[in-house]
Amino acid sequence: MVISPLSAADLLAQHRERLHGSLLVADENTIELCGSAAVPRVVLPPGESAKQWSSVSRIIETALESGIGRDGRIIGVGGGVICDIAAFAASIYLRGVAITLVPTTLLAMVDAAFGGKTGINFGGYKNMVGTFYPAADLLVAPSAVASLPEREYHSGLAEAIKSAMLGDTELFSLFEREPEAVLQRESATVRAMVERSLAIKASVVERDFTERGIRAWLNLGHTFAHALESVAGLGLWSHGEAVAWGMACALDLGVDLGITDRAYAARATALLERYGFRLRADGVGVDDLLQAMQYDKKVQSGAVRFVLQRDLGLTEVVTAPPDAVQAVLAKHT
Ligand SMILES: NC(=O)c1ccc[n+]([C@@H]2O[C@H](COP(=O)([O-])OP(=O)(O)OC[C@H]3O[C@@H](n4cnc5c(N)ncnc54)[C@H](O)[C@@H]3O)[C@@H](O)[C@H]2O)c1
Repeated sequence: MVISPLSAADLLAQHRERLHGSLLVADENTIELCGSAAVPRVVLPPGESAKQWSSVSRIIETALESGIGRDGRIIGVGGGVICDIAAFAASIYLRGVAITLVPTTLLAMVDAAFGGKTGINFGGYKNMVGTFYPAADLLVAPSAVASLPEREYHSGLAEAIKSAMLGDTELFSLFEREPEAVLQRESATVRAMVERSLAIKASVVERDFTERGIRAWLNLGHTFAHALESVAGLGLWSHGEAVAWGMACALDLGVDLGITDRAYAARATALLERYGFRLRADGVGVDDLLQAMQYDKKVQSGAVRFVLQRDLGLTEVVTAPPDAVQAVLAKHT
């Protein structure tokens, strides 16, 4: 893994040996960040709707036409969408060629590009088809966040705050102490957020690559968030916004169940508020949210389970009684 002050294009140029025999995959926004390297490329439309089979077949067709062999590589330059699609295509093309990821959103830098989960959406469900296939290398240029639309940057902040909650007191304090530097995307601050979030994710993923145990901790707030995303419909809540809302719900649920330290819950909730996250989903129905959670339950063939925290860095997965979940949802809608 390389985390560099260079731009994404300069970072790619610095590692030009990786460009030989490779196929570049980007979207219409991130292709601008790739520089002028003369390599075959696939440029996909931006956004979640590209996470589908047709994008994967375009990549595979172009790889074939360009003669990318088993010793070749795919280089994904973009946000979580491009990282997930490019890495999935790399994992199945010729039974697997190397994948280099150059994440360009804050969310992809702190989360999506690292950890080996790849995938596309299928049949209306998110990430329904995919593989575990870690990147052969990760080239991170935190300066790429400078051109991110405000909402995309804000969405990534939620995942970085989640990393701090999972186990980095120093990063948590940085968020408390330096909101201006964080919100103004000061380069040293963004770099610290990226390095520290990746360190937290690495410490979890190294112990549980295929998510049979503690990797589920990374889903703090996500059971609530996925329900909100599916009920509220696309666009009204970004993934990060939904995760921030979900973490506030998880903190409250933990307090109500006598698990979460009340002072910690108040501190973490205040932090989410300080960064402007909405902690109430006005107009969203509690019953609809509960029903959406049943889908999670079906997939996992068990009760709905929640990632809760006792305190900063003390995380566990618990099965919560439905009435407690209902009460928390009523408070946050
Ligand atoms: N594999 C994993 O472990 C994992 C983890 C978390 C999320 N994800 C996936 O990540 C996806 C979301 O990723 P995302 O939030 O990065 O969204 P995204 O990839 O759609 O990027 C958001 C938007 O920002 C644009 N963009 C990207 N970089 C830019 C830059 N530097 N400057 C200007 N515009 C830029 C993109 O073109 C796009 O329009 C979801 O599909 C989610 O499932 C995967």
